[in-house]
Amino acid sequence: MNIRYFVLAALASAAFSCASPKPEGTLGAGSELDRKVEDLLSRMTLQEKIGQMNQISAGGEVAPYAAAIREGKVGSILNEVDPVRLNEFQRIAVEQSRLGIPILVGRDIIHGYRTLFPIPLGIAATFDPELARTGAALAAAEARPGGIHWTFSPMLDIARDPRWGRIAEGSGEDPYLDACMAEAFVRGYQGERPGSSSLAACIKHFAGYGAAEGGRDYAGTQIPERLLRNVYLPPFEAAVKAGAMTLMTSFNENDGLPSTGNAPLVRGILREEWGFDGLVVTDWNSMGEMIAHGFTPDRKEAARQALEAGVDMDMMTFGFLSHLEELLKERKVRMADIDEAVRHILKVKYMLGLFDSPYVDPAAAESALYTEDALSAARRTVAESAILLKNEGALPLKGVRTLLVTGPMADSPHDQLGTWSFDGEKDRTVTPLRALREQFDGNVLYVPGLKYTREVRTSFPEVLEAARKADAVLAFVGEEAILSGEAHSLADLNLIGSQSDLLKALKATGKPVVAVVMAGRPLTIERDLPSCDAMLYSFHPGTMGGPGLADLLLGKTSPSGKTPVTFLRTVGQVPMYYNHNMSGRPYQNEKLLDEIGLEAGQTSLGNTSYYLDYGASPLFPFGFGLSYTNFAFSDITLDRDCYGKDDVIRVSYTLSNTGQAEATEVVQVYVRDLVGSVVRPVKELKAFERVTLAPGERKALSIEIPVSRLSFYGRNGERTVEPGGFLLWVAGDSATGEPVPFEVR
Ligand code: BGC
Repeated sequence: MNIRYFVLAALASAAFSCASPKPEGTLGAGSELDRKVEDLLSRMTLQEKIGQMNQISAGGEVAPYAAAIREGKVGSILNEVDPVRLNEFQRIAVEQSRLGIPILVGRDIIHGYRTLFPIPLGIAATFDPELARTGAALAAAEARPGGIHWTFSPMLDIARDPRWGRIAEGSGEDPYLDACMAEAFVRGYQGERPGSSSLAACIKHFAGYGAAEGGRDYAGTQIPERLLRNVYLPPFEAAVKAGAMTLMTSFNENDGLPSTGNAPLVRGILREEWGFDGLVVTDWNSMGEMIAHGFTPDRKEAARQALEAGVDMDMMTFGFLSHLEELLKERKVRMADIDEAVRHILKVKYMLGLFDSPYVDPAAAESALYTEDALSAARRTVAESAILLKNEGALPLKGVRTLLVTGPMADSPHDQLGTWSFDGEKDRTVTPLRALREQFDGNVLYVPGLKYTREVRTSFPEVLEAARKADAVLAFVGEEAILSGEAHSLADLNLIGSQSDLLKALKATGKPVVAVVMAGRPLTIERDLPSCDAMLYSFHPGTMGGPGLADLLLGKTSPSGKTPVTFLRTVGQVPMYYNHNMSGRPYQNEKLLDEIGLEAGQTSLGNTSYYLDYGASPLFPFGFGLSYTNFAFSDITLDRDCYGKDDVIRVSYTLSNTGQAEATEVVQVYVRDLVGSVVRPVKELKAFERVTLAPGERKALSIEIPVSRLSFYGRNGERTVEPGGFLLWVAGDSATGEPVPFEVR
């Protein structure tokens, strides 16, 4: 570890850490581990080493892959989850290959294994990293007994474009929230000390993948290095510091360099600067795709560049397997790099206990699924993650005898699971209709109106007839699971099909209408707000979506979810995110289209930054969400006016629950650095906490922020806290509150 890395690492952990320091027993920690790895490595042939660097997709059958495993040509498989077959795979590797090295089994467990939690964007909406940690630990507890060792999660891609379908898989637009969630997922999957009950986390996609041009998946990104370091890399750095065992390179090229061949990024920043000594795997054929990028002429050169960049394992290109031996003979790659890659892979296998217990007990695997703990944590996560966007008294439901449940998402067990739900089972999924039938004390009428979200209809007579018999209407609308996720980008973000028409028609009946949106992204729902009296927004909620939402709708608990990403009025506003840089001409109440006179003269004086047709504001800002009560902030003070760079800022505030319901507020602290060596964001989230208060309760509270958390990469390319003036807000979202000034010397 060089000095520069040491300093940066120390700064970095203070800058983004939400939790305790890196757990013991992570990679590189134990000399006993190193001895085992070195001993095994010394006994391996070149072909066996290269075999370890090869990952294949092997699902459904064992026979087609048996010979390759026996010959030591497979280090890892993905996409097989059957414990009996996994035991067979291991038996071939352990008992029939020369060195008996067990196979590392990977799977995309993105928001739960069988018990699916809300999609990661929904988990981020809880602003509750501890709950995210619990969810990840429960996912490990379900998957590991079945023989799965490694999950390709968490996805840490900052996403500021809701057209991009994979926005569903991450924590949204903010680096600090994302970093907190990153640490939580890593600790949850891996446990305090990675071992025989952990899943190895794989932080992905390194790096910048979420900035795909136009929101089109797999498109290139243009992220300059400072932006990369200040916005896109902090969650990865936080996860590395938390002990993430593995990392995946991304599909995208940034500024001309595909990540899988990007040595300055992987070898430079990740390995040398951050000291990452874990396993780096490519994304699916991202080595081979460097040929399609026109970055390498053939697979052999792609393999050479990937190894040179710092990649250890090839997912599904077979580039290492086919070409490394030849490349070594030609002296185009170094033996030391191959050895280093194999060390990383073997370390993970040792740390997860694969050599000690490669086999699993299928009966135990079965009984690990759908435990009470998992189901109740999933339900709680749903209830914490749904965001109340509007409520004119319709929620919670009160005095309703007959309830109409309608809409294509009301009883759509597959679609409520969301993207990456390979292992979820619709038969085990509880829909809102089912939960309401069980929990609602009154009559439930059910008329779906639309069978699926894309359906187009011109009228809804049977729904309207039922609405007339009901005291209130719950309309479950949104997006089918397949409309978000990988390769599922959209250019139009309005509610699809005839769903807006359905809401409008329901509203015209005069009955109170509650819209519950289940989607994979923040849709542009402005046109639907007038069609409902209340709107609850739930990112695809998973297995326990029904009970978790019913808890909110029926008032058993109050909504506390907050937008982890800015909600836009129209797709033309993309990209719009709260932590944008300060403009030379910030918006100031300009004239909109209908206020501009005919043949008005052009002027270049006094203009500011906005759209003539949509103004300057989003529909809902980052961090926004209502509850069944009201909260008031007061007495916001800092313990000092001026701080040194090593100090901790203690922010005191009083929070009052001024309404009638017990509820939780997500208290958010934002900071603006007034003058920087480079232009700084208008504000940035620097701390948050969830506080629960009884009706009428008032509490004096405080929250601490190390000054080092204000550091950023400025003009000199180093991460530092620049002295000067700052403003600080304590509020329930990113758009309200009164600033308090302070200084850093
Ligand atoms: C995705 C990754 C995923 C991998 C393995 C790729 O298409 O981009 O996120 O982990 O497949 O399934």
